[in-house]
Amino acid sequence: MGRALHIIGNWKMHKSLEEAATFVSGLIHDLDAMKSLEIGLAVPYTLISTLSEKCASSSLLIGAQNMNDASEGAFTGEIAGSMLKDAGASFVILGHSERRRFFHESDHFINKKVRRALEVGIKPLLCIGETEEEKESGSAEAVLKEQLEKGLEGLKPEDLSELMIAYEPVWAIGRGKAADPEEVQERHTFIRSCLSDSFKKTKAGTVPLLYGGSVNVDNATYFLNQDQVDGLLIGSASLSLETFRQIIDDGRQLLNNR
Ligand code: PGA
Repeated sequence: MGRALHIIGNWKMHKSLEEAATFVSGLIHDLDAMKSLEIGLAVPYTLISTLSEKCASSSLLIGAQNMNDASEGAFTGEIAGSMLKDAGASFVILGHSERRRFFHESDHFINKKVRRALEVGIKPLLCIGETEEEKESGSAEAVLKEQLEKGLEGLKPEDLSELMIAYEPVWAIGRGKAADPEEVQERHTFIRSCLSDSFKKTKAGTVPLLYGGSVNVDNATYFLNQDQVDGLLIGSASLSLETFRQIIDDGRQLLNNR
């Protein structure tokens, strides 16, 4: 039996309360609990509480897309991890390339958020990935190693069981141009080896490594078929119930055939 699969939607800044509630009702309606298949939706803050209540008796996990590193304080417009937990979030995306790029988030700041999320009991989903220029100049691995080492600085090996990592090449996000599955397999193998170097090998093996960047119904299975890919982080294709459900079905079929 292989590792579990994680299929997580990243809704970014999309969906009203009504649209979100309709989507989630449709999704949980026929979402059979399958032990080795974990489904999650990272949603805007305004939806967390309603959606968490809605899927309390289902296996669907609700998460957030960002948080502040402080426990509380005078940070107008920010949100604390404990507040997300209060609202029902069980995981939080941290270090997404859109946060790094548009909001100038540094690895150091992201690391403080990762530590805070672990402290309050929300699973961090740390995103790392190289830009097109970094890939072209041959520095992709160095960039991934740095983002990983700095992002996870100060963590203990046992923290790794409460963590997920997504490899999201910046050039593949929202472009309709995904990475090659073999290339993703290679990068994931590299990420896994960096984790083994920094932490114990046995612990490094337990971290789910997700791929994200232009995943859709046509290419999802190719990524899931790679043995170093433990799941997917899906942006635009998670906004349609039909396509998100199709990708979940692909994952389920793959697990059934294992
Ligand atoms: P995409 O986004 O699937 O629309 O490329 C992925 C992400 O940003 O997490």
